[in-house]
Amino acid sequence: MKKKSTSSRRQFLQNSLKAGALLPFLGAAHLSLGKESLSADFISEKKPLHPLKILILGGTSFLGPHQIAYALGRGHSISTFTRGKTEPTVHKKLFKKVEQLVGDRNNDLEALKNRKWDAVIDNSGREVKWTKDTAELLKDHVDLYLYTSSTGVYYPYWGKDIREDTKLVTETPAGTEGEEKFEYDYGVMKANSEAEVRKAFGKDRSIIVRPTYMVGPADRLDRFIYWPVRLKRGGKVMVPGKADDPVQYIDVRDVAEFMIRQIEQRAAGDYNAVGPASAQGMHAFIHAAHAAFSSPLELVAIDDYEFLKKQHVHYIVPWIMPEGKNAGSALVSNARAIAQGLTFRPLARTVWDIDEWWHSDAVSEERRQKLLAGPEALMGREAEILAAWG
Ligand SMILES: NC(=O)c1ccc[n+]([C@@H]2O[C@H](COP(=O)([O-])OP(=O)(O)OC[C@H]3O[C@@H](n4cnc5c(N)ncnc54)[C@H](OP(=O)(O)O)[C@@H]3O)[C@@H](O)[C@H]2O)c1
Repeated sequence: MKKKSTSSRRQFLQNSLKAGALLPFLGAAHLSLGKESLSADFISEKKPLHPLKILILGGTSFLGPHQIAYALGRGHSISTFTRGKTEPTVHKKLFKKVEQLVGDRNNDLEALKNRKWDAVIDNSGREVKWTKDTAELLKDHVDLYLYTSSTGVYYPYWGKDIREDTKLVTETPAGTEGEEKFEYDYGVMKANSEAEVRKAFGKDRSIIVRPTYMVGPADRLDRFIYWPVRLKRGGKVMVPGKADDPVQYIDVRDVAEFMIRQIEQRAAGDYNAVGPASAQGMHAFIHAAHAAFSSPLELVAIDDYEFLKKQHVHYIVPWIMPEGKNAGSALVSNARAIAQGLTFRPLARTVWDIDEWWHSDAVSEERRQKLLAGPEALMGREAEILAAWG
């Protein structure tokens, strides 16, 4: 791959922004309307790109299938590396066009040896050692290493505008327990994994993308889905938090597409992949998400944090109670990524697509029922909480 001059591209971007600061947003809306991956179809019809060979460590769960769909649409070829256990639930047919390598990041990297790729995307990095081993193994055979990190590297979230150069969490304080320990451990694992990538590939060949909560079709976690399901049903809806409590989230497809374009542009560096485009409060989020549906809605705002704590409502992603170590969890800056080309689908599009996927064969009836009324289902307790609120 030929290295592009970053300074001239930066200058070009700065001039474009001066000429019309709204262009990136207009562009995002244009590209997002209509069917999924309109941008990919557009590009592949015109065939303007040089094809790349991309290896995805992972690729079959949530983020991976969307990366594959977009990359294939732009003329690239894909190899995946997994244990062969997780089956994709979306874009299944596309996997016929993918080279599927089998191994295990714990102890079997044979399939990756003596091969060459233009770029590797490390989605499945769950242990620092896994990333250290693959970065070491691939550094002389692959040009770029893109590591899928997380905004969790900023935990605890103290800032009000958390930028990429914020000091990252590199160890879990002794004596930390429970939920807090989980948050620390995850952030530390991601931050130390990032460091291993930079150590092996150097800053010029490392792309670090830090997504916030990713939402969209194929999600394996039942957290954001609360809102599409609940808002579609309509009626009296519990809305936790204050109207302006900040929320952040991003459509998984926007992350996938941004990553592929960063590889195409050889745009080394660290990027927070965070939406929406500009600051959003909880109530604005609810209304924008509900725009996907036409159900009558009566919102009941529960803005008393103490009451919510008593009811064990600390978060319904993207709303996280903005207190203590989570005060700035939805105040992560996306300025650098937007300047570098991160675009956003409209929220109603995302919610609509999630609803379609949730009611498709990709999701089991058992999973749907569990969300509505399972033993831990918040939705099942909503009426009770509203009654207690009065
Ligand atoms: N979800 C969010 O909101 C969020 C937010 C920020 C960051 N992230 C990060 O985003 C990344 C995306 O995860 P994803 O699940 O969507 O990625 P994915 O690439 O779609 O799937 C993960 C893959 O890892 C493979 N895998 C698991 N254990 C393995 C092993 N021992 N050896 C080899 N392969 C293994 C799985 O296949 P097999 O089971 O077949 O091996 C699966 O293909 C993660 O790093 C996560 O930390 C997520």
